[in-house]
Amino acid sequence: MIEHPPEPFRIKMVEPIQLIDQSAREHVLAEAGYNTFSIKAENVFIDLMTDSGTGAMSQSQWSAMLMGDESYAGARSYYRMAEAISGIFGFKYFVPTHQGRAAENILSALLVKDGNFVPSNMHFDTTEANILARGGHPTNLVIDEAFEPTNRNPFKGNLDPNKLRAFIEAKGPENIPVGMLTITNNAGGGQPVSMDNIRQVSEIYHNHQIPFFIDACRYAENSYFIKLRDPKFADKSVLEIAQEIFAYADGATMSAKKDAIVNIGGFLAFNDENLYKNACNELILREGFPTYGGLAGRDLDALATGLWEGLDEDYLAYRLGQTAFLAEGLLEAGIPIVEPPGGHAVYIDASRLLPHIPQNQFPGQTLAVELFRQGGIRSVEIGSVMFAHPDPTSGETVHPELELVRLAIPRRVYTESHLNYVIKTLNKIAAQREYLHGYRITYAPKLLRHFTARFEPL
Ligand SMILES: Cc1ncc(COP(=O)(O)O)c(C=O)c1O
Repeated sequence: MIEHPPEPFRIKMVEPIQLIDQSAREHVLAEAGYNTFSIKAENVFIDLMTDSGTGAMSQSQWSAMLMGDESYAGARSYYRMAEAISGIFGFKYFVPTHQGRAAENILSALLVKDGNFVPSNMHFDTTEANILARGGHPTNLVIDEAFEPTNRNPFKGNLDPNKLRAFIEAKGPENIPVGMLTITNNAGGGQPVSMDNIRQVSEIYHNHQIPFFIDACRYAENSYFIKLRDPKFADKSVLEIAQEIFAYADGATMSAKKDAIVNIGGFLAFNDENLYKNACNELILREGFPTYGGLAGRDLDALATGLWEGLDEDYLAYRLGQTAFLAEGLLEAGIPIVEPPGGHAVYIDASRLLPHIPQNQFPGQTLAVELFRQGGIRSVEIGSVMFAHPDPTSGETVHPELELVRLAIPRRVYTESHLNYVIKTLNKIAAQREYLHGYRITYAPKLLRHFTARFEPL
């Protein structure tokens, strides 16, 4: 059981939010084509769409921004970021990028060739899309327990080492230019990966001369889970745990919009000098000079400060406690969720909540729409809208194992009473669940369709 300690901060600036009335919410939904991504933020009461770039920066981060050095080349801000990256991650080289997917794009451009395979526990959607865009095959090899929503394995984000060995043997290491691991596993419920698994995966990749890159978005939350759940690490600091994690890897991509608690920013880090030089060329072409990436000097300073703050153990205890609070409230109300809850979000199991809505009618989308209709709450579907795809040989639709709705908690933004309101709203929805119906897609683009698809009620 995770404790829920009070916020280790007090609030100095507030941003008003308002709940528009039910008929206005109906109108907003119809205008948005029943896609929560198309709703104007001003019409949202509680925004749990993502924890990415939505956190509240601290007074130290805001004051660091005023120290931002906007020199085109060699800014002091860059060196402060370099200090944080070498102190925490230990990699020799890095380039700043404007966010995580820009780092993924550069990595894919440098390493992935047509027909290559890139294994991971589970790739996030942008990583998957960047590998696909280079003609590669992103492959998810997470342990089977990840797909059992009530299985309380403490490290449900682990990559299955047996699946990985068999995969490398079947595809040939020469066709695998990079192996990855996402910590925590966002697409699979925000579940952590254990240190033993990270070490083992690193050994397997390295035994086959495959470079090992970590998607490090939520490295601090993952490190704190290791401290809480693996007795071998109970007396280690979160910083020491993070340092050990990255010592097993050859590089990392990171969207700093998560555990570095900034509104924009990211980086790609590595130990290989050649890769670094090639990354600089890619960066100059698309993002900017290697000492600023696509960012302003002030962004680099906020990011450097946030990387250290994200490791604060009082903050992490509060952060994971807040997620656990929401999860426990929903379980008490009989709402099925992925258990145990992950670090940054609670994932509602829409298939179990709405068993009468089949996968091809998008039960997760139904629930996401209902959360807005009933309570002005914005969430995101992580199910068939996001991941269903045609089978390459039969052309038949392949649905994901789980139909989830993610309630992602922005960092240091909402209080316990906001979360109580979310729990109450879900109670209301659950009481009327049999009257809810599915949706049909009326428009979808080819790639990453969940962002812009439109729907109509069935
Ligand atoms: C695990 C993971 N990887 C990569 C990304 C992409 O980061 P960004 O949105 O900064 O491009 C995300 C964003 O949510 C993520 O959760």
